[in-house]
Amino acid sequence: MPLVDRFGRTIRKLRISVTDRCNFRCVYCMPAGPIAWLPRHQLLTYEEITRLTGIMVGMGVEKVRLTGGEPLARRDIPRLVRLLSGIEGLHSISMTTNGYFLPPLAQELRQAGLTSVNISLDTLRRDRFLKITGRDYFDRVMEGIEAADAAGLPVKINAVVMRDFNDDEIGDFSRWAAETGHAVRFIEFMPLDGDQRWDRSRVVTAEEILARLADVGSVEPVHNDPSEPARLYRVGLPGARPAVIGIIPTVSQPFCRHCDRIRLTAEGRIRNCLFAVEEHDLRTLLRSGADDATLAEAIAQAVWIKWEGHLINRPEFRRPAKAMYAIGG
Ligand code: GTP
Ligand code: 5AD
Ligand code: SF4
Repeated sequence: MPLVDRFGRTIRKLRISVTDRCNFRCVYCMPAGPIAWLPRHQLLTYEEITRLTGIMVGMGVEKVRLTGGEPLARRDIPRLVRLLSGIEGLHSISMTTNGYFLPPLAQELRQAGLTSVNISLDTLRRDRFLKITGRDYFDRVMEGIEAADAAGLPVKINAVVMRDFNDDEIGDFSRWAAETGHAVRFIEFMPLDGDQRWDRSRVVTAEEILARLADVGSVEPVHNDPSEPARLYRVGLPGARPAVIGIIPTVSQPFCRHCDRIRLTAEGRIRNCLFAVEEHDLRTLLRSGADDATLAEAIAQAVWIKWEGHLINRPEFRRPAKAMYAIGG
């Protein structure tokens, strides 16, 4: 039973959120005030996550990505990576992280079977880092990037671009990408921030980002798989090797037509779109003793009814009830 939806899309990627907790407070993601975290018993155990993933791999999923909150804020994540590595047919286990816990863990994660990491870094300036993330951890995240690199984990950098926060750093990031060899992906700010401050005027569109890239160097599109959210470019800068720069244009150029992913939330629900307004509970079924066939049927049903795409650019758009940290990105 392959995972297909009403619009003919086949699901090959699963994003697994392992916790809603995070040690950062990025303005585009978390609310500034107190947060009611999910109680531990509501989180899927590593064995439960592995069982559901195994079922989905049997239905065609090839790649998983661990997210949060901050995935490394959950205890002993290398153990989950080891469990997932044992699933036959799973080709890739990656992670999206804020990088803080990578210095002590990168090596162990790599040995456990992690294939790559995407690390969030929205600014190259220490003072701004504090303003954006609420934490004075710039140096530590830089160490995390180095640790991942040293462990042999391919690294991509995610930078959410927000007008009047960091949109003047596109050139600096490109130079840094050229120097370090890390791909940097600029992400359009999406209406998923905890304090609901998002508005269109803060979105720096893909078109604007491209124009700023063209101000600093030559820009040449690189072909990549349309199911990947990033459009890739090779940016040539004077006196440097070319930088690989991606742009993730969710708001201005939705790419839902090519979507091949679903999400498993930390509390064990299938979320069939980043912007979905409802989720499909698997934990109750799982904990009531359902067999694999019953779980597979519930997953297939949740995928089948995936909608055509998000409605950000339509008047009827409603923000999901959950903010990014509770979804997993
Ligand atoms: P790669 O597999 O390395 O390309 O990773 P990724 O870009 O799919 O994942 P990552 O966690 O690094 O996410 C980068 C940005 O893409 C985040 O802002 C995500 O919210 C966004 N993103 C990931 N998946 C989707 C999706 O299905 N739809 C939309 N609109 N955005 C997504
Ligand atoms: N808009 C766009 N990207 C976001 N992320 C978190 N919140 C938002 C938002 N409101 C990004 C993080 C992380 C990834 C999982 O999602 O930077 O890299
Ligand atoms: Fe934490 Fe990631 Fe949200 Fe930042 S974007 S607060 S690092 S979960």
